[in-house]
Amino acid sequence: MNPVTEATAPEAKKPALPDAQTVTQVKHWTDRLFSFRCTRPASLRFRSGEFVMIGLMGDPHPKTGKPKPLLRAYSIASPSWDEEMEFYSIKVPDGPLTSKLQHIEVGDEIILRPKPVGTLVHDALLPGKRIWFFATGTGFAPFASLLREPQTYEDYDEVIITHTCREVGELTYGAELIESLKHDELLNEVIGEGFWKKIKYYPTTTREESPKMGRITDLLRSGEAFEDLGVPPLKPETDRAMICGNLAFNQELKALFEEEYGLEEGANSKPAHYVVEKAFLD
Ligand code: A2P
Repeated sequence: MNPVTEATAPEAKKPALPDAQTVTQVKHWTDRLFSFRCTRPASLRFRSGEFVMIGLMGDPHPKTGKPKPLLRAYSIASPSWDEEMEFYSIKVPDGPLTSKLQHIEVGDEIILRPKPVGTLVHDALLPGKRIWFFATGTGFAPFASLLREPQTYEDYDEVIITHTCREVGELTYGAELIESLKHDELLNEVIGEGFWKKIKYYPTTTREESPKMGRITDLLRSGEAFEDLGVPPLKPETDRAMICGNLAFNQELKALFEEEYGLEEGANSKPAHYVVEKAFLD
């Protein structure tokens, strides 16, 4: 090796990240939550409700010195027709990925593996009259996609979205998204003027005062949620549901569905009455 040549050589252009996409927008909703948008790989096709692996380059390996990608599963929050990708994320101060990801800015690159998968898709459900989306925290993300998906309104007469969070500020991303549908000219034209009137939005908080307090699981069990929404309890003949939240929430709802309402879990290969996906936490 010639040290002179090396020292004077112009700085080589850094190689781009593998599967790199460029950040186009970042919004911080609370000190624990943010969303961002990035470019979409030209070849990427996905179904609204699916997830992909995204991340950043991690620290170099202590022995080999080679940096390793640090990836996590993220539900795609944008609908399948959107020309960009959107994600909704928690910020975990000591989380391996989100402690870094929360600092991304417009123009930065992220890694996005273009292999979408997931169970929260319309194909996994039998036809029905009413669809329920049950979310806690960042579990709202796949529903942000499905609420902007024309098929949701073509397939169902009523779309009920429940979102349980600890604090009121954590509801803002979802509340603003639902409000924005009313003024979305493209969707009102494509799906039909006033399509958003099919939506019944039921936000609840558990640790801060708000108009509706309590875990959705308790509100279903007591019957209060059905009274508030003006609909009967779920039943296999009419109701379909998708669940996305923390593990305990998913398990509790699953048990309630099967034991109380007689619903059966569906899959891509065998559509039925409800499907579950966990919100991926760092
Ligand atoms: P709670 O405040 O009573 O724990 P987290 O941020 O921990 O993921 O929780 C998000 C929301 O989900 C909180 O409002 C939390 O309520 C609620 N939650 C947690 N576990 C369950 C469960 N098993 N059933 C229903 N809601 C739950």
